[in-house]
Amino acid sequence: MTHVFTIAIDGPAGAGKGTLARRLADHYRLNLLDTGLTYRAVAYALIQHALPLDNVSAAETAARQVDLARLDRTVLSAHAVGEAASKVAVIPTVRRILVEKQREFAKAPPGAVLDGRDIGTVVCPDADIKLYVTASAQVRARRRLAEIESIGGTASFAEILADIERRDERDTGRADSPLKPAADAHLLDTSEMAIEAAFLAAMAIIDDALAKRNKA
Ligand code: DC
Repeated sequence: MTHVFTIAIDGPAGAGKGTLARRLADHYRLNLLDTGLTYRAVAYALIQHALPLDNVSAAETAARQVDLARLDRTVLSAHAVGEAASKVAVIPTVRRILVEKQREFAKAPPGAVLDGRDIGTVVCPDADIKLYVTASAQVRARRRLAEIESIGGTASFAEILADIERRDERDTGRADSPLKPAADAHLLDTSEMAIEAAFLAAMAIIDDALAKRNKA
């Protein structure tokens, strides 16, 4: 790879894009950024200070303070933080500040895999590869329930499904940078596909693009 290589992965919550991004970053030896964590960090800062999630100036300050090298997944992965993140993510200035940081990250050699909602459309519109990873809301809810049960927790399928549908609506319905596939994205529907199969399918797409480029 002679230039900075970018793989953009977008899709709704729970479609498996995080796992896929990690596998691809390992395989192609690229940097990795889960951009959801940046929105989660802003939400978490507001929650910590007991501030409302629509406090624009506090959210902007929190966004400026986000340090990509210090995103703590254990703290930020809590379900409530994800819900709150999708609320602060509707604030255009917060998006602008975070997108700037995400673009800086993507520029560092040898390149990066970034996953989120607007990577192929807004953050890295010139990405070498764009993947849009989806799965039906039912399948995503079933996976989420299995994940909770595997660590000894309990939850209601109906509640998880309602949560997922609410989050999808917020992410696809917002005015600024809504979740949608880029025109040139490869669609990967993982409803009927295990993560290994999704990884192999993504690898085939990427290797094909790399071979074409090397020929050009
Ligand atoms: O992927 P996640 O569940 O960690 O994301 C949490 C929220 O952050 C998601 O509901 C919407 C927002 N988000 C966004 O607006 N743009 C991104 N690139 C990543 C996440």
